[in-house]
Amino acid sequence: MTKFAVNGKEFETNDPGDMPLLWALRDRLKMHGTKYGCGIGACGACTVMIDGQAMRSCQIPIANVEGKAVTTIEGLAPADAPTPVQAAWIAEQVPQCGYCQSGMIMAATALLASKPNPTDAEIDEAMTNICRCGTYPRIRRAIHRAAGATASAAPAAPAAPATETTGAAHE
Ligand code: FES
Ligand code: FES
Repeated sequence: MTKFAVNGKEFETNDPGDMPLLWALRDRLKMHGTKYGCGIGACGACTVMIDGQAMRSCQIPIANVEGKAVTTIEGLAPADAPTPVQAAWIAEQVPQCGYCQSGMIMAATALLASKPNPTDAEIDEAMTNICRCGTYPRIRRAIHRAAGATASAAPAAPAAPATETTGAAHE
């Protein structure tokens, strides 16, 4: 018996511990937002977050997620209240065929959680997923847009206390 949480709900299964997490998500839970692409850990279409880290679910045996929290694209937000990353994806009209995009959004969400304002180089280093439609420039723009939206939504830092200065300090 293997137990873990998927999008906040407990899930348990008697499937063999070496079954890939992607199989559990798609075949047992019928969550088809997480895609099967290459099956060898190369494309990233199957990316989910496990305890907040972007991972390729085709390469993770379910035994390895025992007791952990898995988040899939279905668990990010309700359709009428997209996350900043999802909203940026819409605003930049990122997807073409769309097949890679769940994995891209999960990878971008994990990236921004650990690095709220990544540079182009940091985006390119972190986003190793493959898009056969070549949407990489729009993905990069969407990540910058989401970073900006998150920063502007954050409460402003408290102003530094005013300090009295003497004329001598400005000489
Ligand atoms: S399907 Fe998992 S990395 Fe391609
Ligand atoms: S949008 Fe088609 S593979 Fe990425």
